Amino acid sequence: MKEFQRVLVTCAWPYIYTIPHLGNLIGSILSADVIARYHRLKGREVIFVSGSDEHGTPIEVEAIKQGIHPKKLTDQNHAIIKKLFEDWWISFDNYTRTESEYHKKFVQEFYYKLYQNGFLYKKQIVQPYCENCKRYLPDRFIIGTCPYCGYEKARGDQCEECGNLLEPTQLINPKCAICGNKPLNKDTEHFFIDFPKLRDKVIEYIQGNPYFDKRIKTISLNYIKDEFKARALTRDNNWGISSPFEGFENKTIYVWFEAVLGYISATIEYLKGSDEWKKFWFDNSTLTYYFIGKDNIPFHSIIFPALLIASGEGYNLPHIISATEFLTFEGKKFSKSQGIGIWIDEALKILDVDYWRYYLIYIRPEERDTEFTINNFVDVVNSHLNDTLGNFIYRVTSFIKNNFNYIIPEPSSLQEEEIKEIEIRNNLIDKVDKALSEVKLREALNFAIEIAREGNRYLNERKPWDAIKNDLMLAKNIIYVAVQFINALSVVLFPFIPKTSLRIRNQLNLSEKIKWDDAYKEIKGIKINEPEILFRKISKEFILEKLKEVRKAN
Ligand code: MF3
Ligand code: ZN
Repeated sequence: MKEFQRVLVTCAWPYIYTIPHLGNLIGSILSADVIARYHRLKGREVIFVSGSDEHGTPIEVEAIKQGIHPKKLTDQNHAIIKKLFEDWWISFDNYTRTESEYHKKFVQEFYYKLYQNGFLYKKQIVQPYCENCKRYLPDRFIIGTCPYCGYEKARGDQCEECGNLLEPTQLINPKCAICGNKPLNKDTEHFFIDFPKLRDKVIEYIQGNPYFDKRIKTISLNYIKDEFKARALTRDNNWGISSPFEGFENKTIYVWFEAVLGYISATIEYLKGSDEWKKFWFDNSTLTYYFIGKDNIPFHSIIFPALLIASGEGYNLPHIISATEFLTFEGKKFSKSQGIGIWIDEALKILDVDYWRYYLIYIRPEERDTEFTINNFVDVVNSHLNDTLGNFIYRVTSFIKNNFNYIIPEPSSLQEEEIKEIEIRNNLIDKVDKALSEVKLREALNFAIEIAREGNRYLNERKPWDAIKNDLMLAKNIIYVAVQFINALSVVLFPFIPKTSLRIRNQLNLSEKIKWDDAYKEIKGIKINEPEILFRKISKEFILEKLKEVRKAN
């Protein structure tokens, strides 16, 4: 891979009609956070942006159901969700929202430009209309049976089951989502984006993008063969960004076609008042990442690039798209109404953030759907975090406390075994680095925890508790080597479990300003702080009991 100075990390903007669940979190936001933290450690200039996707019919429908204005709903939820992401240690540089003035202005100017460039045209169409509610029924205002897979609750814009994009008129047996009436068809005029005109350029981009893996390439090329039709840019609903075209002021821009532009507007907003943002969007020494769920692939690998190309401005097109499969909960789809799953607000009331971050990254659905099970969560926490990581560190720090009066020993000339062990450590650090640079988060985490596993194995083999009785120099050397393992752990774990990483560094009295290369450092002579237990063993009963309590309190 070419060396990059600057990195833009993004993740899909969550719809905020409800609080995200654990699957939403690992599917995009938490994965992006790992990579943003990694590149900062590597000394690159990083911007990590996302925001609340607050327009669109799902939120309008939800607000109508609750009897409040959509803005009131999104103001509330944006504040709650933004705070939750902070509690999850998500290191956004800018977590904004699509109601931001920067965003609205950017979107309107962007589509005006597309119009001037000849990529938009007006067309009369028929749209379903509910006589009872006196409104057109775009997107989620209408539900019906999907013509592709037969799913009965498909929305007017997309079937959630098979992921296919739809037009409302394609739905079999359509119904108004608010009142259940059968809609009529009524004429209306809309702006369309002339995607077919962009097809060749987009294909060229997909085929020529060296960062796309096979899977993204195949999905994208298949999609572009069948589904890359002109699509309506505007909608007849109220909640959204008003279209910038004369006579169309009370129509809004389709939520997807504005939300994807948020990646740019959020960068502009973050670096407001200067042209710095342009480095992230036009300079070819910037690397860009998009963390999304697999259902969002076409929007990022085709539609977003097509829009950027149509603008004629020369924006950087997405480099790396890391798309996760789905996370299920005990084998089932997360469902609020059926109480299947755990939500990100609940989780933190049960256990500290890093128990969850660790396990979610450990089961990140990278190649196939994966399953969150409470049994496995308990096993992994108990064996990886408690027995392996926490125990290793505690063994070493309490040995230092008891035998060396809190001072990390200075080594004398190291034995062959000790030299070899430092090499093993350095090798593992290299492996974490390589896996992270290839966005293999699970593999990287496994190599990271392997450092603690190896550390324990080494202690058991070299037995500093025996050495201390008759060979003080050897005991010092062994503990010195073990400390180097702890130091490495404190660095390489930072992208995954940053709170713990800083606690470990605190234990050893090391600086919180970390760089990746600190992992290879050898530290000695420092007075450490009081040894601390990092993790506790948990049980299934504990989790279920706590979950019950949390839900009762709500
Ligand atoms: N809100 C969408 C979803 O949850 C994702 C929007 S991604 C963006 O599926 F690109 F539009 F920001
Ligand atoms: Zn209706």
